[in-house]
Amino acid sequence: MKPIEYEGDKSKIYSAAGTGETMSEIMARRFSRRTVVASGAAGSAMVLLASNAATAQSTPIAEATPGATPVGTPAGTPGATPVAGTSFGFSSLTLQGGDTPVVPEGYSVVPFLRWGDPLFPDAPAFDLAAQSAAAQATQFGYNCDYIGWISLPLGSGASDNGLLVVNHEYTNPELMFAGYLTPNPEYDAADEESAEFLANPTQEIVDTELEAHGLSIVEVKRAESGAWAVVLDSEYNRRITATTPMTLTGPVAGAELAKTSADTTGMDVMGMLNNCAGGTTPWGTVVTGEENFNQYFGNLDAVPADSPLRAIHERYGLPNGASERQWETFHSRFDLAAEPNEPIRFGWGVEIDPFDPTSTPKKRTALGRNKHEGHTSVVSPGGNVAIYSGDDERFEYAYKFVTAGSFDEANREANLDLLDDGTLYVAKFNEDGSGEWLPLIQGEGGLDDAAGFATQADVLINPRAASDVVGATKMDRPEDFETNPVTGKVYLVCTNNSNRAVEDNAGTDAANPRAENRTGHIIEITETDDDHASTTFDWELFLLAGDPADESTYFAGFPKESVSPIASPDNITFDVLGNIWISTDGLPNTFDDANDGLFVAVTEGENRGNLQQFLSTVPGAECSGPVFNTDDTALFVSVQHPSEGSTFEEPLTLWPDGEGATRPSVVLITRDGGGPIGQ
Ligand code: FEO
Ligand code: CA
Ligand code: CA
Repeated sequence: MKPIEYEGDKSKIYSAAGTGETMSEIMARRFSRRTVVASGAAGSAMVLLASNAATAQSTPIAEATPGATPVGTPAGTPGATPVAGTSFGFSSLTLQGGDTPVVPEGYSVVPFLRWGDPLFPDAPAFDLAAQSAAAQATQFGYNCDYIGWISLPLGSGASDNGLLVVNHEYTNPELMFAGYLTPNPEYDAADEESAEFLANPTQEIVDTELEAHGLSIVEVKRAESGAWAVVLDSEYNRRITATTPMTLTGPVAGAELAKTSADTTGMDVMGMLNNCAGGTTPWGTVVTGEENFNQYFGNLDAVPADSPLRAIHERYGLPNGASERQWETFHSRFDLAAEPNEPIRFGWGVEIDPFDPTSTPKKRTALGRNKHEGHTSVVSPGGNVAIYSGDDERFEYAYKFVTAGSFDEANREANLDLLDDGTLYVAKFNEDGSGEWLPLIQGEGGLDDAAGFATQADVLINPRAASDVVGATKMDRPEDFETNPVTGKVYLVCTNNSNRAVEDNAGTDAANPRAENRTGHIIEITETDDDHASTTFDWELFLLAGDPADESTYFAGFPKESVSPIASPDNITFDVLGNIWISTDGLPNTFDDANDGLFVAVTEGENRGNLQQFLSTVPGAECSGPVFNTDDTALFVSVQHPSEGSTFEEPLTLWPDGEGATRPSVVLITRDGGGPIGQ
């Protein structure tokens, strides 16, 4: 077996930076109307890169949050509006560790859907010692992430009955299966290249992992008593996995690079992988994004070094030699030596119609291929639909797709293929606070045959390279990208980028203003004329995350002595008042011993930027996918990859069961006695 090293989230295996131009070439610095930004790491209090690139130097909680404990009055009346000193009806949590999720006084949090929970009347109960692919295909998958809420009936706006659509991004076999890791007898602690454990995948393990990926569609209902439950016999419940038949649609469907020995049409794909974020459409479908698909493939070095395909795969970070997961040993489609084109069929936004459980998921290639996040959709004044999506990798780009056709509110069927025809744009952030959406159209802006783009399919297969050519702005891991339904403003979350301005990497620019950005930021975009189909916009920094005592942080102008610390913002959602709720992924790398959590900030008015913590999760976990029902009386949040960084045999936590194995779970948060959350 090939030695394997587990140092954290394998969904975060980053490739080298791209090579295009950056905005740092623009000499003029922009200081936004509201923003004063400390430039660079030199002299700042920002945490520095530790010698091991995978491990940040941490700041102890107590040291990081002087005077910030707690925000607001600790004796606040639960549910009062608002608690004095805050903008909300709760007292902010403080950063904390701990083995169970925590919410403010007056609220309750419970595990609601756990990995392995049955989703059908005839599905077997979870049995850790007797896992199988067949059982997993009928149970809630692993590593829940994005959560979508769709009211039932469709369009009703009901708050007590709906579909939860939940991504299952990836698997942690070292936490799922006893004995998956065994000590490496040749381990040398003094050798950084030496692995402490050997991985022991089997056919059954890999096949179970395939079924633990994908997405769950689950009907949920609130009883008169206020208790929420899964509707096991719902006609809508469905599992979609890494083996579910799917169709490539749009310009890349049938392209030569999309053909494999198993699919000479270049259209019929088996499954989806690493579905991270997602969004719902106005017509009641879901677009779910395949993110770090590169980690499932092995043996890039078998692809000829001078072939264009090799360059594409390298840009997306596919590995030479064996993959960490070693799936290529059990399924030849993951072996680039056998199937060099298979990865071209992953990295897409996948549209799924939850109202037709027999429907075939469609990989919408017009949206471009990358490590997809987001997929918020908005209908523009002209009827075209805009879909925003980040490409979550250091120095990659932020995208918007605008449909050619218009949304037809009266005819759902007419909207079902809207996403196959339109224009993909990439964002360019100018130093003066303006911005442009640059079209990625073959034959325009240098995207021609000579540059490697003979067809629109070539552009969409590698929009990263196309974005280099048109001169878009390289971002600090653009992750979630969502519209505030109250104001129409669009928020782009940049999780972090410790390589910003390091060595030969791109330097700082106005939209990515901090060197060695370990704590992330959020950008606020206002489309010209509030038209989401516009090709220009204005932008400003909303949040520069970190310890408020750090001079490089910024909380939309709100007094920093009154806000919560936060780091590595990841997913966002909005409540009915337009407040932004921010979940974090990687906060413990900044604030030692603190778990990732959920935070909320006011976006408008005098309290704009007032940020407070609402949820703390568990060790090793990322907080992701927050979503409210329609009246904010229920909040669903994913506690993803608890115990990550440890092993089945020595887990960081056994939450939520306290025995067996840790189980990634969607938690349900409600206000005691009912009522809207946060107010
Ligand atoms: Fe899977 Fe970009 O987080
Ligand atoms: Ca994510
Ligand atoms: Ca993430």
